[in-house]
Amino acid sequence: MLCRICLLLISLIGILLPQAYAGGMETKADQGKRIFQEYCAVCHGEKGDGNGQVCFVRNREKSGRVLVTYPRDFTAGSFKFRTTPTGCLPTDDDLLKTVTNGISKSSMPTFKDIPTELRKAVIAHIKTFSPRWKEEEPCKTVRIAMPAWVATPASIDKGKAIFKDMKCWECHGEDGKGSGPKSKDLKDDWGRTIVPFDFTTGKLKRGTSPENIYITFTTGLDGTGMPSYEDSLKDEERWHLVSYTMKLMGLTK
Ligand code: HEC
Ligand code: HEC
Repeated sequence: MLCRICLLLISLIGILLPQAYAGGMETKADQGKRIFQEYCAVCHGEKGDGNGQVCFVRNREKSGRVLVTYPRDFTAGSFKFRTTPTGCLPTDDDLLKTVTNGISKSSMPTFKDIPTELRKAVIAHIKTFSPRWKEEEPCKTVRIAMPAWVATPASIDKGKAIFKDMKCWECHGEDGKGSGPKSKDLKDDWGRTIVPFDFTTGKLKRGTSPENIYITFTTGLDGTGMPSYEDSLKDEERWHLVSYTMKLMGLTK
């Protein structure tokens, strides 16, 4: 009898010990921290304040202008790429999308080779850097229903007029090259120079689908000076702006 229990115990230890050594006992929180140290801290800093060794990266644009983008400071709890209204925290899916796809026109790489579970664990770790995550619930996501007429010539024309009326050109320039009169002294929430970049290169940070462009006007890019137009423009008007932005980007005929 005793021996059977002994055998059972020995086999249990045999199963559990190697798992513990292989990291099988690592908690989700430990995993998130480990992935952060291994893959993210070099830019985002050990403390998540954006002061890693690779603090910023310079990219020269075709026009010769230099884009400098700093890694996000997670202690502020302010994020650009959300599907939630301006001023809100992003959803976990928003963060997962950023970590999976990276951010084009910046040094933020794609991490699609890290298994999804670990990407989710590192996201949970990012959320420990700002008290906002404990104090606030993420807001409701914005509704996205693309009309069939997006990118038609009539819609592009309407979008052009709205781009003018809403003074998008003051920052983005009439030709969409990012050199409007206000573009020279724009600062982000951290007091660093920020530029509304050149649409004519055909690339955007969030991605170039009509839905992604629409989300940018609707939610704003918090921390950057790029405002939200959810209250000042009707849904329909924002879709006309999508058409015109696509035209400036060379994505329509
Ligand atoms: C080589 C540098 C670099 C590394 C490594 C890096 N990042 Fe980033 N990350 C950036 C930069 C630069 C930005 C800001 C881009 C911008 O604002 O356009 C950023 C922004 C972000 C954002 C903010 C997105 C938003 O909506 O504002 C998240 C979230 C993020 N990174 C997560 C991660 C995670 C998680 C890792 C590790 C798995 C990681 N990053 C590794 C450079 C890096
Ligand atoms: C006060 C200046 C300012 C005004 C006004 C402004 N923007 Fe922006 N916009 C910016 C800045 C700065 C960025 C770049 C932020 C970054 O790189 O993180 C940006 C980025 C964008 C992007 C790119 C998003 C991406 O995924 O990369 C689009 C599209 C855009 N703006 C459209 C518009 C439209 C349309 C209007 C008018 C309805 C407008 N902006 C008004 C400053 C402004």
